[in-house]
Amino acid sequence: MLLKLTILPGDGIGPEVTEQAVLVLQAVAEAFGHHLELEQKTIGGAALAASNDPLPADTIKACLTSSAVLLGAVGSPAFDHYPNHLRPEAGLLRLRRELGAYANLRPAICFPALEDCSPLRADLVRGTDIMIVRELLGGLYFGEPRSITGDPGSRIAINTMTYGEPAIERIARVAFDLAMKRGKKVLSVDKANVLECSRLWREVVTRCAKDYPGVQLSHMYVDSAAMSLVQRPKDFDVILTENMFGDILSDQAGGVVGSLGLLASASIGGPVGVYEPVHGSAPDIAGKGIANPLGAILSVALMLRHSFELEREASCIENAVSAVLNEGSRTADLIRVGETPKSTSAMGSQVVGAVKELAAAKRRSA
Ligand code: IPM
Ligand code: MG
Repeated sequence: MLLKLTILPGDGIGPEVTEQAVLVLQAVAEAFGHHLELEQKTIGGAALAASNDPLPADTIKACLTSSAVLLGAVGSPAFDHYPNHLRPEAGLLRLRRELGAYANLRPAICFPALEDCSPLRADLVRGTDIMIVRELLGGLYFGEPRSITGDPGSRIAINTMTYGEPAIERIARVAFDLAMKRGKKVLSVDKANVLECSRLWREVVTRCAKDYPGVQLSHMYVDSAAMSLVQRPKDFDVILTENMFGDILSDQAGGVVGSLGLLASASIGGPVGVYEPVHGSAPDIAGKGIANPLGAILSVALMLRHSFELEREASCIENAVSAVLNEGSRTADLIRVGETPKSTSAMGSQVVGAVKELAAAKRRSA
């Protein structure tokens, strides 16, 4: 198969982790006989520095003409004082919108080898396997009006949360479809005791659920869901929620399973999917070669699964990551006292090695 991809390394640790993810992708492509066509473009602070636009036209064009996008991270303190539309984050938000990527899938899995990395007791976190389905193109992130107006000292800031029925319905269906292939449970998270958006959300989700009689739907307010997520994470299967709640709960889920550095994501629903680690640009550790590349590497697995339906290839990467973790390899975010961490590139090379071994073993047994 021809895999035509746009690579957007972006800011901070984005380029370091993306480099390793691409090496893993190349190893899988070679092992399974796929042809890669990769084109690299700029986004975020990197693009702002070069062209004063966090999402240059040629980046959008490249993304729209490829089959999938692999992104590192955006965000840089150098642009903190810039107006909203000239911040690195604006590039990412526009990219999601231009590509129609309304469904953000964020799996949070407790790897057996990493039980001791969670701040929670091992018996609580063991077996955790959550799929967060975050609505990605609505809510406070995109609602109008939005502004800061008035004179210093008496300024007023406005953001607007909006959700229409079609937007709620299409993301709910993504969650129910995923639940059918997993534990058949959907927890819809909202704040229906306070927000109109959430009341409509709950109504529409409840209506959709009628088409999925095999799936058990429950509802929870976001504050209560945040508490339950740390009290009993393994009770969760699919979490369905709006944009901002999903942003917050997915970072929390990263903490629960030991490190945000492990979390991958898929932003799909439109013509071209975007795959990126959840961790962000982490400017404090950028350029040091210590970032965890597993979130980016696991995002490649999601890409192979969701954009190309290459399930064997996706599983090969996931199994390679498990194998490397089982061998005891850990980056700085995961080490125990007294252990020496693996560098970003050492971790990446180990996954590449494991991919090659697993693929060769598969060929021998075939
Ligand atoms: C994420 C990030 C982004 C978001 C930022 C960088 C705009 O936090 O992907 O979770 O808020 O969606
Ligand atoms: Mg976030």
